[in-house]
Amino acid sequence: MRLSVIGCGYVGLVTGACLAEAGHEVICTDIDSERIAKLKAGGVPIYERYLDEILRSTRRAGRISYTSDAGQAIRAAQAIFICVGTPPKDSGEADLSAIDNCARQIAAEADGPKLVIEKSTVPARTGLELSRALSAYRRNGDVRFRVASNPEFLREGTAVEDFFHPDRIVVGVEEESAAADLREIYRPILERSFHCPLHNGTCPPGPRADFLVTTINSAELIKHASNSFLALKISYANVLSELCERLGGDVEEVTHAMGLDPRIGGQFLKAGLGFGGFCFPKDVQAFIHLAASVGVDFDILKATDRVNKERIDRYMERIRRALWVVKGKHVALLGLAFKPNTDDIRYAPALEVLKRLLADGAAVHACDPEAISRTQALFPGAHYHKDPYAALQKADAALLCTEWDIFKKIDWERAGKTMARKLLLDGRNLYSPSAMRGLGFEYHSFGRP
Ligand code: UGA
Repeated sequence: MRLSVIGCGYVGLVTGACLAEAGHEVICTDIDSERIAKLKAGGVPIYERYLDEILRSTRRAGRISYTSDAGQAIRAAQAIFICVGTPPKDSGEADLSAIDNCARQIAAEADGPKLVIEKSTVPARTGLELSRALSAYRRNGDVRFRVASNPEFLREGTAVEDFFHPDRIVVGVEEESAAADLREIYRPILERSFHCPLHNGTCPPGPRADFLVTTINSAELIKHASNSFLALKISYANVLSELCERLGGDVEEVTHAMGLDPRIGGQFLKAGLGFGGFCFPKDVQAFIHLAASVGVDFDILKATDRVNKERIDRYMERIRRALWVVKGKHVALLGLAFKPNTDDIRYAPALEVLKRLLADGAAVHACDPEAISRTQALFPGAHYHKDPYAALQKADAALLCTEWDIFKKIDWERAGKTMARKLLLDGRNLYSPSAMRGLGFEYHSFGRP
């Protein structure tokens, strides 16, 4: 099918690239003409595993192209994926102006019937508003627009894998024909008839994705409800870690045993510095706001958000207690991205820690495999190193904020010899307390003895 993608951020690019890899013809557009020029020249503006590989192969096969002319992309496609940003306003409410802008463009440029699919994360009822806006903005002659919601459940860092091997594909529609078109778009994924870049064409047998057809409102709610619930699990584990610290207990033992109950599940119960990124913090806020707008007090999510913000306070208290005077101390900050395998630093807990350390007058030596250039642009006052051992040299303290593989592999015996003080504050419970103490480190983590 001929598809277009509006918005070449991480969701748009992964969606476009994977659907092209699955055999469709995809044309991508973005208002950022520099981004389009970079993509046209073969560049990849974000770091996401396997993305550059599939962008290259689909480009060679002539199945993906880019244009800054949104009209061209809209006219060329039977189905249009809207993948634009919905950032939070100061109130926490989602800013839908980019979606509104897409509606205007599609209404003005369409020269035939279009299936308009919202993939951006949006509050419930956006699809219905989008449908109204498309008819209201259409000036020159009648064109039939069908609107569908198709929320994405991709995780940064494993987005390509998640796209090709989803647990579920949710499509919210108003009419059966839209569901049929979406089933056709996803048929290669549902039937596993695409060349899988991860498994070199031969995917291991495993459960196939459920294709769920719902109303548009339900599909939109499923997205916010899923992200908020995962965020809630994380905050729950973080409160448990505080309880363990006060009562004596090991949060890892507690959450491990809890997670063996299939009704609970073991994922997203990892205590630490809390959640960041451009999804959970903003989606929790947007969901609270949406609920309040219809008179529902989503208290439990307000607590989720509060607990998460307090994680940084708790961590800073520990740093200040351990270092006594922070001003002038050499601090090695290991990890900047909001999680491993991405260069995304939006709402990254590490950045808040970095900001507060700089404000306290520390000499911060930060290390991250992918996120240095983005961070450096925001915080030129810190020192940056690709090599963790260079960041750790002469350090008064090491702070682990993102659990990248290279940090798992640090030889702490070697690093400890070059540090001014063997002090490690582990914000992600990455290392074994007994092993670190065995190496002579003063070691702090969350909720563990
Ligand atoms: C999240 C969801 O997991 C995806 O399903 C969803 O599609 C995506 O948001 C989105 O809405 O686009 P993502 O933000 O990429 O994906 O990252 P996650 O892997 O979910 O991690 C979010 C944050 O939670 C990270 O900062 C991570 O360090 C933290 N986390 C995760 C914990 O603190 N503890 C855990 O146990 C798990």
